[in-house]
Amino acid sequence: MTTTAGILAGLWMGTPVSAAETVPLDKLDLKPMTCGWQKPVVGKSMDGNPLRIGGQVFASGVGTHAASELNVILDGGAASFSAVVGVDDEVEGLGSVEFIVMGDGKALWKSGVMKGSDKGKKVEVNLTGVKSVSLVVTDAGDGINFDHADWAAAAFTVSGAKPKTEAVPGEEPVILTPKAGPAPKINGAKVVGVRPGRPFLFRIPATGERPMSFSAAGLPSGLTLDPATGIITGSVAARGSYKVELGAKNSLGAAVRGLRIEVGDRIALTPPMGWNSWNCFAHAVTADKVRRAADAFIKAGLAEHGWSYINIDDFWEVCPGSRDATLQGPERDAEGRILPNPRFPDMKGLTDYIHGLGLKAGLYSSPGPRTCGGCVGSFGFEEQDAASYAAWGFDYLKYDWCSYNGKAYDRSLAELKKPYQTMQKALAKQNRDIVYSLCQYGMGQVSAWGDSVDGNCWRTTGDITDSWASLSSIGFSQAGLEAYAKPGNWNDPDMLIVGHVGWGPALHPTRLTPNEQYTHISLWCLLASPLLIGCDLEQLDEFTLSLLTNDEVLEVNQDPLGRQAGRVAIAGKTEVWAKQMEDGSLAVGLFNRGETAATVTAEWSALGLSGKQVVRDLWRQKEIGEQDKAFAAEIPRHGVALVRIRPAK
Ligand code: GAL
Repeated sequence: MTTTAGILAGLWMGTPVSAAETVPLDKLDLKPMTCGWQKPVVGKSMDGNPLRIGGQVFASGVGTHAASELNVILDGGAASFSAVVGVDDEVEGLGSVEFIVMGDGKALWKSGVMKGSDKGKKVEVNLTGVKSVSLVVTDAGDGINFDHADWAAAAFTVSGAKPKTEAVPGEEPVILTPKAGPAPKINGAKVVGVRPGRPFLFRIPATGERPMSFSAAGLPSGLTLDPATGIITGSVAARGSYKVELGAKNSLGAAVRGLRIEVGDRIALTPPMGWNSWNCFAHAVTADKVRRAADAFIKAGLAEHGWSYINIDDFWEVCPGSRDATLQGPERDAEGRILPNPRFPDMKGLTDYIHGLGLKAGLYSSPGPRTCGGCVGSFGFEEQDAASYAAWGFDYLKYDWCSYNGKAYDRSLAELKKPYQTMQKALAKQNRDIVYSLCQYGMGQVSAWGDSVDGNCWRTTGDITDSWASLSSIGFSQAGLEAYAKPGNWNDPDMLIVGHVGWGPALHPTRLTPNEQYTHISLWCLLASPLLIGCDLEQLDEFTLSLLTNDEVLEVNQDPLGRQAGRVAIAGKTEVWAKQMEDGSLAVGLFNRGETAATVTAEWSALGLSGKQVVRDLWRQKEIGEQDKAFAAEIPRHGVALVRIRPAK
């Protein structure tokens, strides 16, 4: 297509460049530059040393870390870009990256894979007519460790407007999820587990106009339903597998759906879905914010799609070193019972409130003397703490290694397991089911032994942040862990980073592009990961809500078979992941990790399929059609197509 700008640029090509000006990269505003670890450094390497590649030292440039990206608007001036790129010498030969200069969405220059020991490569790119340029550093496909990447002596030559940096290539947040209809529809988990005699709580998730009345035929003895709210409570003494038929009715119709209640030893038979305070409020959490989050959760209709937990992370405890008065106070009472900080004056009142909404409540602690935030941990008080959590009415515990580092003798399996076994025993004594979420960032291959300490889920990585680098390196590194996922045991690649996040009082809209957000939710559903929303629910926008309320997408996460997707194909920057579903169909994600749109193909041979198959687009909730051998789609930069594939009749 010829545009006015294109014609003008063409004319300029022949025009002698007068008053060309050199604008060094390190003189631009680098705030929008993303970086896979820490922050880009002006004129220095990541570790603050002089920029040095292959023994050559540079006086100017930018030190960054894969994966990194900077978008620069050139707005009309003919320009070129030059630099010397490479892995900084400070990582002593480790690390491997690729540098790419993108112009208007096309790769203009690529370094190829560069290793830590390589000499620098000279970049010289003509940017005539190019409107925007992206400086990209990838991890070259092997993770981001030691990827200290230098854009040394980097500069633009311009004869028009000065280059300006901008956040990410503009992408419209297009809502794909169809709106739920006014007639009743029952969503969410099709199986729940509870231990004999333990309190049971389940709110029937149903969309549709209110008022709505609910029914539950075949409830085991001990459970009762409130037909007006759809909340089932009670406890069941007898072990067994109970088939219940749930019903929801309004003036427009009626819906029924089966729910299997398994009364036995195992709980969390589908990945827990809810909200956690960390990725938004972090150290600024208060009981009032949690209560408001629960209200907003209901108001947004999340419970109608099967979301059910409201979890408090760190900073409900007293933090001995803090100067903040609301974090101070007595740590424990005379019997050694932990005392919440003044921000949480009535724990029981708070969980009663949450339970009253038909939701469950979660809490956080550390097996060490201190939590990661420096607050009071459970070390030496595990029995009292488990008893307090149960007495307060909590249904979920995230147990975060943190300062237990100082207590473990070494990183042997026995030492890694020990603190989790101590709390396991303490939790087992309580007359309450408490989902046990291990958080120790994947040490000692926790996926292989988490079940042996009664863990229901376990973090497999460090903390996530709202960047593509973080999301993609965590999400796609889950390949192989599918062997360990099953009902009651889930790998946990950390919480969701859509919506307004921020880890403290100042929140910002997620830095992920809309396509990256589709990738995030699609991948976490395929991975059968716990889904814990990490944003401020009082600032939930329509787009974020649409990402969290697509029942066909959530069904992939909540499938009763409890399989986790594995990677079945990889070609360049594109990947295909597939998850076996209970009904025999496959949920398949076609991902494009690359910087430009690409065709991604899911071959039947890679999926173990043959013959005619029906392909359904899960985000749009629409049949795409029948295919014989493969399904291929054009996938945007960092985007995804999530489909379900079943044999044609
Ligand atoms: C980290 C943990 C985070 C959050 C934080 C609280 O170790 O991974 O998810 O819980 O501690 O201080």
